[in-house]
Amino acid sequence: MSVPDHGARHVAIIMDGNGRWAKKRFLPRVAGHRAGVEAVRTIVRAAGDLGLEVLTLYAFSSENWKRPEEEVSDLMGLMKRFILSDLDEFAANDVKLKVIGNWRALAPDVVALIENALDRTSGNKRTTLAVALNYGAQDELVRAATAAAATGAITAEAIEAHLDTADMPPLDLLIRTSGEVRLSNFLLWQSAYAELYFTDRLWPDFKPADLAAALDHFARRERRYGGL
Ligand code: IPE
Ligand code: IPE
Ligand code: MG
Repeated sequence: MSVPDHGARHVAIIMDGNGRWAKKRFLPRVAGHRAGVEAVRTIVRAAGDLGLEVLTLYAFSSENWKRPEEEVSDLMGLMKRFILSDLDEFAANDVKLKVIGNWRALAPDVVALIENALDRTSGNKRTTLAVALNYGAQDELVRAATAAAATGAITAEAIEAHLDTADMPPLDLLIRTSGEVRLSNFLLWQSAYAELYFTDRLWPDFKPADLAAALDHFARRERRYGGL
């Protein structure tokens, strides 16, 4: 695949601000999460149009279990419906689904649904949508280091080869919405030399034009990787 003008192959987004979006409208938090799913649909399509190879979205962190049971259950329900209802859309847009994080520890019905979706989209080639589910970078690094140790020396290459993102191009750009300037345990290893982009936009308000603006910002950065 030819690299588009902006030069980015892999973009990741910390989709934050659903709750505040709902609060501003005097709506329950779940309404913000529903609007967030709509934003996911639009941005996945835009990612393909903008020539991205991989779009990685932080959907549920390993720390999000601390939220009230009702919200966790709303989020899992939305996730299931999204995967089910968008399978045809993935086929139409040539989107391959990938899931990173400790997703096999989720409820058996969610695991089965994910396995089916991975299987059904495995032949798609245009864009990879990687959804981070029950993901925490520290957990990922512990798993990767353990696997690396089991096969020999713990080197940077060996750890990298066992990360959940091992088969993806390097992370170019990491975006966080909602004005928070922190990584919240997302892609800590992979962001070592990624460009970081923070916007005040709340996730449900994040539009293809915002993604294009972030990519434009990326295109103007000079990446040095420690050199000159
Ligand atoms: C992001 O929105 C969605 C998830 C973390 C699942 P939040 O729910 O964190 O929204 P805020 O940060 O409370 O506004
Ligand atoms: C990060 O957002 C996790 C996701 C977007 C899934 P949070 O809203 O959970 O992060 P904190 O708690 O503000 O750091
Ligand atoms: Mg948040």
